[in-house]
Amino acid sequence: MMEWNVPFAASLEPEALAALPMAKRIVRRLSDMPGHYSDQEAVKSLLPADPLIYDFWECEYAGTGRGLSFGMTCIYPGVVGSEYHMTKGHYHLNGGDEIYVPVRGQGIILVQTRKGEAQTFNLVPGQFLYVPGHLALRTINTGDEELSVFGIWAPNIEHDYETIARTGFRRRFLRGADGAMIVENRMT
Ligand SMILES: [Fe+2]
Repeated sequence: MMEWNVPFAASLEPEALAALPMAKRIVRRLSDMPGHYSDQEAVKSLLPADPLIYDFWECEYAGTGRGLSFGMTCIYPGVVGSEYHMTKGHYHLNGGDEIYVPVRGQGIILVQTRKGEAQTFNLVPGQFLYVPGHLALRTINTGDEELSVFGIWAPNIEHDYETIARTGFRRRFLRGADGAMIVENRMT
């Protein structure tokens, strides 16, 4: 049984989180999210190699009190076609807010309402981002190195990945000659 009832400290580093006894690794390869990218020709050509897009080290609260869950998302640099590596993105079905703390790398957090009203935040080291639980959220790595973001959320959140898989987000992030380009996306 994990020790949620004793205090503990850990470095804000993916390796340190991965080493915690309660950490569960969730691996996302291209084959886990082929429909999330716009360039399906690029998806087809990359699928045999099936690149690792991101790892999520999840520490979901397993105690009996009113604890907190936390985890670290590590998105590896790269593109599918010209679209940057990103998380699937999800809604919280039963609400529950979340705090994001960038640890290393360069990237963007995209949030959106169910009506498709989108907002973009640059992840700035030294700043954190508070996201109310009614918003869908996706993290995008727009840099050349790993993007790691620490998150803290209310426990027992039900994650809805299906809606995003079906509708997508309102914005896409493509690598252009001068850096990241935002492209408006039609939602289905
Ligand atoms: Fe979340």
